[in-house]
Amino acid sequence: MIRFISTEDTLALRSLVLREGADSELCRFDGDDDEFSFHLGYYRDEELICIASFHKQGREGFEGTGYQLRGMATMPEFQGKGTGNQLLNFAIIYLRGIKANYLWCNARRVAFRFYLSLGFEFISDEFEMAGIGPHRAMYLKIQ
Ligand SMILES: CC(C)(COP(=O)(O)OP(=O)(O)OC[C@H]1O[C@@H](n2cnc3c(N)ncnc32)[C@H](O)[C@@H]1OP(=O)(O)O)[C@@H](O)C(=O)NCCC(=O)NCCS
Repeated sequence: MIRFISTEDTLALRSLVLREGADSELCRFDGDDDEFSFHLGYYRDEELICIASFHKQGREGFEGTGYQLRGMATMPEFQGKGTGNQLLNFAIIYLRGIKANYLWCNARRVAFRFYLSLGFEFISDEFEMAGIGPHRAMYLKIQ
């Protein structure tokens, strides 16, 4: 089941999957609690196994209302089972409903194929994010 969740709810999975177990307070992103930010969680029974955050944040050079996808993570033992795909498809339909025009993210190399399969395209060359590794910006038109 997919639910809207709080920033607080995302921190443990962000830490585990994205920050090598770093203190969860270090796993907050600027903008997490902004009025138009939202977070989604996929629950298997009562266990949160996949999360994604969406900040209302356009990207220079793109028209309309843009959201930035941040902190996309699936618990390791549940990766590759279609959960991330379902969570993002839910988000895309919701974003269409609130009249967002596009979604973009800074994607890790290991996640390129995942985003491409959802229809994202590359909008930057590869660049290094300090301490995390190579990334490329990716873009999905919503409407
Ligand atoms: C990237 C990540 C969020 C994807 O989440 P996920 O739940 O594993 O995603 P899915 O299972 O929907 O898709 C992953 C792969 O499983 C495959 N898959 C397996 N069974 C599937 C099913 N039943 N339905 C859809 N896809 C399925 C997909 O084809 C996909 O392959 P691809 O990556 O080659 O496109 C997750 O792997 C993760 O947390 N990785 C580590 C952290 C990370 O890199 N986050 C992204 C930061 S930019």
